[in-house]
Amino acid sequence: MSVSVLITSEFEFSPSLEAEWLKALPPERQRRIRAWPERRDRQRSLLASRLLLESLRRLGHAPAALATLRHPPRSRPTLDLPLQFSLAHCAGRIACAVSTGGTVGIDVEAMGALVAPDFPLYLTPAERAWAGRSARRFYSIWTRKEAVAKAAGTAGLPALPAVDTTPGARRAAFAGRLWRTAPIALGRGWIGHVALADLQAPLTVEHLPEAALLPA
Ligand SMILES: CC(C)(COP(=O)(O)OP(=O)(O)OC[C@H]1O[C@@H](n2cnc3c(N)ncnc32)[C@H](O)[C@@H]1OP(=O)(O)O)[C@@H](O)C(=O)NCCC(=O)NCCS
Repeated sequence: MSVSVLITSEFEFSPSLEAEWLKALPPERQRRIRAWPERRDRQRSLLASRLLLESLRRLGHAPAALATLRHPPRSRPTLDLPLQFSLAHCAGRIACAVSTGGTVGIDVEAMGALVAPDFPLYLTPAERAWAGRSARRFYSIWTRKEAVAKAAGTAGLPALPAVDTTPGARRAAFAGRLWRTAPIALGRGWIGHVALADLQAPLTVEHLPEAALLPA
């Protein structure tokens, strides 16, 4: 069992490459992404799908496996393969975590100016006390919580107050169990975490350059 995280910096690509990358996805997903008016949103999601494809390739799966991608409403996307994965994108960074064991969740955020008092309903008193007015600490707690909520497959924001990041530096409690959380190095200006159901699985993190994702 292992967990691998692939990260890339956001980059713009041509409409023809966008069309080609869309074709690798199931028809329903293609239709949905095509309907998004913002090129940036379409391309971030497509970049995440390319990181997923690269992870599948490394695990020995055929590229056609990407066509089994499903996005059930309010839950984790799935593939018809014996693995778990999670995708995340924000301005500047795209990430994909794939686990051959237990469930996995990943979240990345571009650091902004938000601080804990802006989100009193989502943080516990202990989390608010630790974060104080530090934006870095707020985004650290937020991405840990989001990663755990995504690993658990819950419908996002409503779960966040119940994700408790205080059981330890690398542990969070949610849904009656402990989750392992690990920070992901994304460069100055970004912050992210991966959350794993498996407390022991080896974890690798790799940054892929743009060239590794573009056609040869
Ligand atoms: C649904 C949710 C997971 C989306 O989070 P997000 O931060 O907007 O987006 P992310 O980039 O982290 O994640 C998006 C990916 O999560 C996956 N995803 C969607 N719903 C999911 C769910 N219920 N559980 C797990 N993963 C989910 C998808 O793969 C999606 O990418 P794709 O559409 O390209 O395939 C949810 O937690 C949410 O809406 N969060 C709000 C974030 C926010 O308000 N942040 C502001 C404070 S910093």
